Amino acid sequence: MRVGILTGGGDCPGLNAVIRAVVKVGARRHGHEHVGILRGWRGLLEADAVPLSARDVSGVLARGGTMLKSSRTNPFRDADATRAALEGFTRLGIDALVAIGGEDTLGAASRLHSEHGVPVVGVPKTIDNDLSGTDVTFGFDTAVQIATDAIDRLHTTAESHDRVMVVEVMGRHAGWIALYSGLAGGADYILIPEQPPDIDGLLSSVGARHERGLDYSIVVVSEGVDLGDEGGRGERDEFGHARLAQQGVGDRLGVIVREATGYDTRVTVLGHVQRGGTPTARDRVLATRFGTRAADMVAEGLFGRMAALHGDTVTDVPLQEAVGTLKTVPPAYYDLATPFFG
Ligand code: F6P
Repeated sequence: MRVGILTGGGDCPGLNAVIRAVVKVGARRHGHEHVGILRGWRGLLEADAVPLSARDVSGVLARGGTMLKSSRTNPFRDADATRAALEGFTRLGIDALVAIGGEDTLGAASRLHSEHGVPVVGVPKTIDNDLSGTDVTFGFDTAVQIATDAIDRLHTTAESHDRVMVVEVMGRHAGWIALYSGLAGGADYILIPEQPPDIDGLLSSVGARHERGLDYSIVVVSEGVDLGDEGGRGERDEFGHARLAQQGVGDRLGVIVREATGYDTRVTVLGHVQRGGTPTARDRVLATRFGTRAADMVAEGLFGRMAALHGDTVTDVPLQEAVGTLKTVPPAYYDLATPFFG
């Protein structure tokens, strides 16, 4: 079989580890040939691909980003794009496709399979960890580790200067990164998109600390939090998502805290730092397990499905299950953090 591989959407630590596993396991265990489709769905539309041998993927395990590049091209943006995607399959001469991506990439993969019969296998990727059907996505652990390191560093400088530090982390629709890094970093308040922002609660938590003689605080806010103002309504990508990191919920929250309390307040937006660099060991292993499962799924003809982690087992689920609803933070998880506020 000739198998195409593509990476779509935002990049994520561990993508190269998945590609490596699909190629090595596919070639060595199943005798597959592989082509790397460049820049996500855009490469399929343009039939832009390179051959990928086991040798080509040697040495990429620990490397961040994606050797196949990525884009947010949507093959369902109009009928011409969908037609080009289907033709790309024939032009590249591939018998199956492994699509590695988040809700948008896998949503398109799911439709290509269900509406056009394309033999596609999905691999769940996102630092946001908001995909259903799998307990966790690779890249999340790395992003949480980076954000936690940043919070640890901000703690010492906050304490030295008696400051409130607002830290904005990624998480477009889900507050997993904010919650985990906030818990791990001992944040004094955490705001996530799933919970309506309680500004009074935040101000009283910070105020209570100062009254106890702790003149510094760390506030972690997820980029997707809606403060109910005009922010978050700017530029959008082909899937209709706002580009949040440029729209400054952290900055706006910093102004609110400074004006309400008079405390010296600084804002740090971690942004794409959370997506870059080498994956943690845990993400390398998870990515390798997902890539291995994807290669086996292609060999077994398990199309229209996605590799998934359930407990400690890597299994597979229908793509539709994974992209139907986002996996947001349940209230009970947030309740875990609230006793540590203030
Ligand atoms: O979906 C992953 C993510 O990292 C979000 O947390 C963030 O809003 C978005 O991608 C940023 O994407 P871009 O690469 O378009 O700036």
